Amino acid sequence: MMALRAGLRLFIGCAAVSRRQVIRSFCLVHRIQAASSGHEGPRTPDLSSFVSRSHTCGELNTDHVGQEVTLCGWLQYQRGDMFLVLRDFHGLTQVILPSGEFGSEVRKQVKETPLESVLLVKGIVIGRPSGQENPTMPTGAIEVQAEQVQILNPCKPLPFEIKDFVKKTEALRMQYRYLDIRSAQLQYNLRIRSKMVMKMREYLCNQHGFVDVETPTLFKRTPGGAKEFVVPTQERGKFYSLPQSPQQFKQLLMVGGLDRYFQIARCYRDEGSRPDRQPEFTQVDIEMSFVDQLGIRRLVEGLLRYSWPEDKGPLPDSFPIMTYAEAMSSYGVDKPDTRFEMKITDVTAQMRTAQLGFVQEALGKPHGCVKAIRVPEGAKHIKGKRLDSMVEMVKKQFGQEVMTIAVRSDGSWKTLLVKYLGEEQRQDLARVTGAVAEDLLLVAAGQHDAVCTALGKLRLDVASRLEECGVFLRDPKSFHFLWVVDFPLFLPKEDNLEELESAHHPFTAPHSEDMDLLYTEPAKVRGQHYDLVLNGNEIGGGSIRIHSAELQRWVLQDVLKEDVGLLSHLLEALESGAPPHGGIALGLDRLIAIIVGARSIREVIAFPKSFRGHDLMSNAPDYVSPEELKPYHIKVTDK
Ligand code: AMO
Repeated sequence: MMALRAGLRLFIGCAAVSRRQVIRSFCLVHRIQAASSGHEGPRTPDLSSFVSRSHTCGELNTDHVGQEVTLCGWLQYQRGDMFLVLRDFHGLTQVILPSGEFGSEVRKQVKETPLESVLLVKGIVIGRPSGQENPTMPTGAIEVQAEQVQILNPCKPLPFEIKDFVKKTEALRMQYRYLDIRSAQLQYNLRIRSKMVMKMREYLCNQHGFVDVETPTLFKRTPGGAKEFVVPTQERGKFYSLPQSPQQFKQLLMVGGLDRYFQIARCYRDEGSRPDRQPEFTQVDIEMSFVDQLGIRRLVEGLLRYSWPEDKGPLPDSFPIMTYAEAMSSYGVDKPDTRFEMKITDVTAQMRTAQLGFVQEALGKPHGCVKAIRVPEGAKHIKGKRLDSMVEMVKKQFGQEVMTIAVRSDGSWKTLLVKYLGEEQRQDLARVTGAVAEDLLLVAAGQHDAVCTALGKLRLDVASRLEECGVFLRDPKSFHFLWVVDFPLFLPKEDNLEELESAHHPFTAPHSEDMDLLYTEPAKVRGQHYDLVLNGNEIGGGSIRIHSAELQRWVLQDVLKEDVGLLSHLLEALESGAPPHGGIALGLDRLIAIIVGARSIREVIAFPKSFRGHDLMSNAPDYVSPEELKPYHIKVTDK
């Protein structure tokens, strides 16, 4: 189908876009001889040129004026009859369609072409007329005078517009993720992630002798830790497990003498999805032989400095360190957000003589204490039902009562405790906490950990509330890294306080000073574990490992009461000349999400799972027919 009009040649046919992909028969080729370009007569179509482009849509400027260019992209806007804007991953370019009668056919075709159709434009770069430049657009000084417009693939009506300002639900975005990925934000997030990973590889492999090793994802159940996904096999009753991390493999690589291992590792945990959690996620997984905690910390600090995006500002030479005990007592959490103060203050001494039943009851118990948080300007912004519901939530979640004291602007106190606090006590409390007019004091009495945890949660809740009121405490553009060290090696099991489980995983070495306690009071042993925290989020965790088979067996068998048979391969490896070793895993999704300021790690994962762990695009997980299940000896029952 070919039409020839004064200076305009229109082809409709098939054009190859790549070797593998053939453009379907509705592919349309417009080849135009634009009067303004000064070319004589129609050009012979060169189909090979249709598969290549000379520039991206975001790079042309006045240096290119006069050049013939070929752009490919998506139709972002049509402006009147004469203009279109083409978009690709790099930016936008304005295109002027051919004018006059000879261009009428192409203008008509473009007008009928839906937005988001894929186009190829060949033309000449021209400067925009004076006064019509768009300084907010990188290509705003030029436009392309089209000579040829080829519609590579028309687009059907889409469920949403690809414009950042158009609001859409997350479910819809996830259902049409391939469209959502066209958004500038997701393009940015995925590209920054790719760049950082590239730099990490450079730093680890090229500069520090690490070897990138892939480890299996069909594995067996690991004792302790997160719940694993199981994979059926055709051997009756036998299942693989998807690894929650490559922990055992990386240790075995050290036994294998690999010395320095790293992997961008996919991990699987069947624990549902949250803003900072996905059932499958990615770790920057690292292991080193002959290393100590300081060595790992220095390596990771260097790695982050090297791969850190330049526009996010420099990182310090080293990150501060805090013990777990201090994190818990000052911030009520093992991953403190150190971007703001509002620390927990001990007011036991000031409250000891208060004639308050709950205080006296708390102080009569082991580890009983009274603690407080001063919320600057809290009395002004957080009051009434809002405050009550915050306190109520914490009570529900942690079973811990929290009392409130609002300091009025005249300095008087509004609190249920008013009758029970003498003037001296009040002054003492104000002095230690620093409370002044319009502040809010949150006070809790009880067992140390419960009090701190409840106040730690309230600290974050009130910070969010203050920010809603315009009092900004946490600068999203600042990055506060923190190492948390000296965690307990074991914690009481949630469902049976008499038994212990690993605070992290069973391969962490005990603190050297606590070795003896391991055999007498294991609950008191600190581990050689370290977490890396960024702006109140745990973005990494690791440890120096147990490299003695005897010690590992003791921990598994005698402390954790695990079936050592499950780990006989590891125990045997430790007996075979295992070097002292340690490592860490950084949660890549969390790290990138914080860097780009995303609310959820779903924003930095190309194809994330929904809140319920589903892929809303393909509807996975899906049913499998009884016939397909037969080889696996699996039968699905109604209940
Ligand atoms: P850990 O379990 O602490 O350690 O995991 C390391 C880091 O991985 C990230 N992370 C997650 N990210 C997204 N979704 C999840 N479900 C999820 N779970 C964890 C966190 C966390 O800090 N093998 C050990 C590491 C080691 O000891 O070397 C491990 O996996 O940012």
